[in-house]
Amino acid sequence: MNSSAQKLDAPLKVSNQTGHPPTQLRVKQPIAISASNIHKTYRTGNVKVPVLRGVDISIVEGEFAAIIGQSGSGKSTLLHLLGTLDKPDEGEIFIGQQCVNSMKSTARDRLRNHEIGLIFQFYHLLPELSALENVMIPQMIGDGLFSYMKNRRAYKKRAQELLEKVGLGHRFQHKPSQMSGGEMQRTAIARALMARPSLLLADEPTGNLDRKNGDEVMKALLDLRDEEDLTIVMVTHDESIATTADRTIHLVEGRVA
Ligand SMILES: Nc1ncnc2c1ncn2[C@@H]1O[C@H](COP(=O)(O)OP(=O)(O)O)[C@@H](O)[C@H]1O
Ligand SMILES: [Mg+2]
Repeated sequence: MNSSAQKLDAPLKVSNQTGHPPTQLRVKQPIAISASNIHKTYRTGNVKVPVLRGVDISIVEGEFAAIIGQSGSGKSTLLHLLGTLDKPDEGEIFIGQQCVNSMKSTARDRLRNHEIGLIFQFYHLLPELSALENVMIPQMIGDGLFSYMKNRRAYKKRAQELLEKVGLGHRFQHKPSQMSGGEMQRTAIARALMARPSLLLADEPTGNLDRKNGDEVMKALLDLRDEEDLTIVMVTHDESIATTADRTIHLVEGRVA
């Protein structure tokens, strides 16, 4: 893909149904992430399960895109590929201008750690740690002790700022067992954004939540998209959740419908 192919020529008309103003996407907005002709088949013994059969998508910077499809349609598989957690059998994935396929694994790991935040249906918080400690833990692990101690004050400030942005300024010292599902997911969102990624990938982030908690999580995502200059790709099987996004992409029988 050359750089001219990385631009969209037509203006994108986007709106959402949340009361948030429509996103102002300019003509020729750069592509944040794209996938072309993605194929993925799982093999278990002699059994082949073809899941993705030529998926093409491109998401522009600042967009909030929802990928919707039935259970088993390959949404999580696609999100894992976009997040460079797995490799396609065929096809290319670009993050910004960089083709992920040809990258060495160390470069790909660095790109993932710096540019991509990931959240899942279950929050994967450490039960013994407070919300604030949970948000800071990736830095603690990624940096090594010496470097972490040197930057600890800045990390704490960033973690507090993120928890405040997701409406948890009053929950710094709460442990996961003392929080609601929505609060735990918002903590996981804050953790995913610690390294200031440009891209947030979310796999059914409201899948384990009731309507009220789900709406709070969606509001946090919309606010953060603007405040943290994020591009968000969210997969969901829930039509009503998907309408919050700027654009809905339907995954049907392994392709974009
Ligand atoms: N690691 C795996 N090995 C074998 N089959 C898998 C694996 N992961 C997913 N599948 C199968 O691939 C299909 C798509 O799965 P998935 O991407 O999780 O769908 P979705 O997220 O849309 O529910 C399902 O039929 C699932 O059983
Ligand atoms: Mg899934």
